Amino acid sequence: LVASLEQVEQTYIMVKPDGVQRGLVGEIISRFERKGFKLTGLKLFQCPKELAEEHYKDLKTKSFYPTLIDYITSGPVVCMVWEGVGVVASARKLIGSTNPLQAEPGTIRGDLAVQTGRNVVHGSDSPENGKRETGTLNGTLFGLRSLSLNHGKKK
Ligand code: TYD
Repeated sequence: LVASLEQVEQTYIMVKPDGVQRGLVGEIISRFERKGFKLTGLKLFQCPKELAEEHYKDLKTKSFYPTLIDYITSGPVVCMVWEGVGVVASARKLIGSTNPLQAEPGTIRGDLAVQTGRNVVHGSDSPENGKRETGTLNGTLFGLRSLSLNHGKKK
C-alpha cells in the first residue's frame, strides 16, 4: 500500500483553445507549479481532427461530441506532461468539475470558466489514460515525451 501511494505518475494536461486565446496559459501552469508538481513536457500545438477524435474516442456516442471536436481543433492548445506522486487525481482536483458552474471556487474551472463547452483545461482521468495521453504507452498521442530532467538539482 505504501509503495502504491508513493507511485510517481504522469498526467496529460492541456490548455484548451479558449484558455490559450484568453491568455490563461501562465495562470494554469503557475497553479501546477505552485502545487509542487514537475513539468516534464510542453508544446504549443494545433490539434488535427483525427487526433482530437482519438483523444476523445470514449465520448464518440455523446451528442456534444461533434461540437467538442470542433472546439478542440479551433485554435492552438498547450500540451503538457506533469509528473509527481498522485498527480493524476490531484490535477483533477486542481482543475475542478467538468461543468465550471459546479466547480468549486479555488479550482481552475471554478475560478476561470463558465461553460462546460469552454472549460479551459483538460486533465487525464486515470493513471492509465495519463499513460495513453502522454504517449508513454503506445507511441506518442500528442507527440510529447516526458523528459528526465532534474529540475532545480545540481548535476
Ligand atoms: P469529460 O471527459 O466527461 O469531462 P472532463 O473534461 O472533466 O474529464 O468530457 C470531456 C469534455 O467534453 C469536457 O471537458 C467538455 C466536453 N463536454 C461537453 O461539452 N458537454 C458535456 O455535457 C460533457 C459531459 C462534456
